[in-house]
Amino acid sequence: MKITILTIAPEEFSGFGNAHIIKRAIELGALKLCIEDMREYAAGSFRHVDDSPYGGGGGMILKCEPVLKCLESVKSRYSGPCRTVALTPRGEVFSQKKAWILAEEEHLILLCGHYEGMDERIFRYVDEEISIGDYILTGGELAAQVVANAAARLLPGVLRSGRAEAESFHRNLLEYPQYTKPADFRGDRVPKVLLSGNHEEIRKWREEQAKRLTRERRPELFEG
Ligand code: ADE
Repeated sequence: MKITILTIAPEEFSGFGNAHIIKRAIELGALKLCIEDMREYAAGSFRHVDDSPYGGGGGMILKCEPVLKCLESVKSRYSGPCRTVALTPRGEVFSQKKAWILAEEEHLILLCGHYEGMDERIFRYVDEEISIGDYILTGGELAAQVVANAAARLLPGVLRSGRAEAESFHRNLLEYPQYTKPADFRGDRVPKVLLSGNHEEIRKWREEQAKRLTRERRPELFEG
């Protein structure tokens, strides 16, 4: 899978390719990560990527030209299918299900919005919009990192086999409680069943715990 991130703040991605899982995915050859600076596609010596909105109101919004020139350049350099996703607070709220869908893409292009938004005409060139939650960030850069991380760890070979399928949210359930050594920490003991060596009993206990936690904390997930 290839992920190309279009941004006016490429410095926000310094170190992103070195984050544990992303680095592993790149080293395995499962992921190719490219960061494109949209400023390089802006006209004039000042390379302005934003301007004030028609109709007044505060703030500066991203201009069509640098964004779309950058997007067209990225697409022209890739012969296969691409999916373009804009990170905006008004998009569909991101989920584990969406991460699985995006991880199937051959070339995912993530367009980071910035400042007070972007020219509405840009969205004609975008396949969909994604939000990472109902709060406002200063730009789409952190959101793009969240989406790229969630998708990259699902690529074949990146996690231990079967781990991603087993984890929280894959079946609309929260994760069951986990314990490691020591078996007794300040008198607080690990549930006996986990020390029993009985794999069937352990599986049942974990299933019950996952259901209990989901019912208590996320009833809407449980109904789903
Ligand atoms: N840009 C600003 N806030 C955002 C959010 N919550 N999700 C995605 N992109 C954003």
